[in-house]
Amino acid sequence: MIKVLFICLGNICRSPMAEFVFRDMVQKRGLADRFHIASAATSSEELGNPVHRGTTEKLKEYGISTKGKYAVQLKKKDYQEYDYLIGMEYRNIRGIQRIIGSDSEHKVSMLLDFTGNPRDIADPWYTGNFDKTYDDILEGCEGFLNYLESQNLL
Ligand code: 4NP
Repeated sequence: MIKVLFICLGNICRSPMAEFVFRDMVQKRGLADRFHIASAATSSEELGNPVHRGTTEKLKEYGISTKGKYAVQLKKKDYQEYDYLIGMEYRNIRGIQRIIGSDSEHKVSMLLDFTGNPRDIADPWYTGNFDKTYDDILEGCEGFLNYLESQNLL
């Protein structure tokens, strides 16, 4: 079982989008039972809140539901429970380090590190542009799955 935790600041826009896009991707490839996939926040700002409307509306275009997802915060013990802790932007990496301490097992990365063009995922919080965020997340999730395949982990 490969355990993946996607992480952003609030766990209402970007990391839930990554969680549900990646889950849909592995389901379509018949790999769902190989993964445990979840998402969490570095901040306590949005705890208990449902997924942002911008993310739910965008994912609805692809027939993906986020029903039942409410924001949760990253916990120190998540470091032992997950194999991959994947942030959306560099600021998240700092937030992750603040909670988990040192990344002694090299489990922490950014989603677009798994592509040929590492960078931050576009943040829709101020722009309202969830289309760009979706494109970045799709690219990152494909890159991550390709990485796992290339490492013979699937
Ligand atoms: P997310 O988006 O980190 O992608 O879930 C945000 C959610 C909340 C805030 C910023 C970004 N906030 O400032 O409360």
